[in-house]
Amino acid sequence: MRLCSSFSWVPLLVASSTPKAAAPYMQLWIGATNLRMDKKREEGKEPIAKEREGSVKFKPEVHQMQKLVTTETSGGWENCWEQGLTPWDLGRPTPIILHLHQTGALPKGRALVPGCGSGYDVVAMACSERYVVGLDVSHTAIEKAIELSSSLPNSSYFTFLKADFFTWHPPELFDLIFDYTFFCAIEPGMRSRWACKVQEMLKPDGELITLMYPISDHVGGPPYKVSVSDYEEVLHPMGFKAVTIVDNELAIEARKGREKFGRWRRDTTQSIL
Ligand SMILES: C[S@@+](CC[C@H](N)C(=O)[O-])C[C@H]1O[C@@H](n2cnc3c(N)ncnc32)[C@H](O)[C@@H]1O
Repeated sequence: MRLCSSFSWVPLLVASSTPKAAAPYMQLWIGATNLRMDKKREEGKEPIAKEREGSVKFKPEVHQMQKLVTTETSGGWENCWEQGLTPWDLGRPTPIILHLHQTGALPKGRALVPGCGSGYDVVAMACSERYVVGLDVSHTAIEKAIELSSSLPNSSYFTFLKADFFTWHPPELFDLIFDYTFFCAIEPGMRSRWACKVQEMLKPDGELITLMYPISDHVGGPPYKVSVSDYEEVLHPMGFKAVTIVDNELAIEARKGREKFGRWRRDTTQSIL
């Protein structure tokens, strides 16, 4: 089965033997090129791609982006942004974040979005009861986020900062940290440091929300494959426990079945013995 997307950081191919999780991708035929390929296939002219079982293959733009990020000694992300190589960018807020915000299901207070990119989720969550900080290591990303959002009516409830998540020290702790496509963007060897920083930046009763993507078994990255146990492995030692872990029913079509929604809190009850 061949799966295509003309716009985002989604698998291009999924093995024909990939089970249920891949099924939603079968419906994904976006763009004129893909429609032509679909027709060819119907006519039997297009060979069906044979892929390793359970693996996904990303579109060429993702490979270019990976090369920049992994081979540049520094500034790989900045180069991606400068060159417009941002295949992960949805161009709109993440649907589940909009839903949680609109239904009053997000913690109020101060929120942080690390690796915020264009900042759609930052803007979507910001309101009089929630001040949101969007952080990105790329100057160009931050400039774009500011440009996209500066004239919005809620602009006094958010801010964008160019900073490295791993070295930044916030002036105040957060009630909420929302991570989407940041955990999978950093090298897997950095995940323990990611969890330390999350713990350091959250209030003791604060909440971490993770959208875990891509749940896959592909090799390399970014995006590096993730699993719930990858998060548990680094968050449990920091005292976080999952309060909720469910499939993200509101994932964009191309990511459905490969994305889980998690809410995490620290167990602050102390033994008196
Ligand atoms: C895959 S993109 C995701 C962007 C955004 N979350 C989204 O879903 O559109 C990862 C982002 O993390 C940023 N980033 C990478 N390393 C970072 C770091 N150490 N500190 C802050 N941002 C970082 C990159 O510049 C990039 O914008």
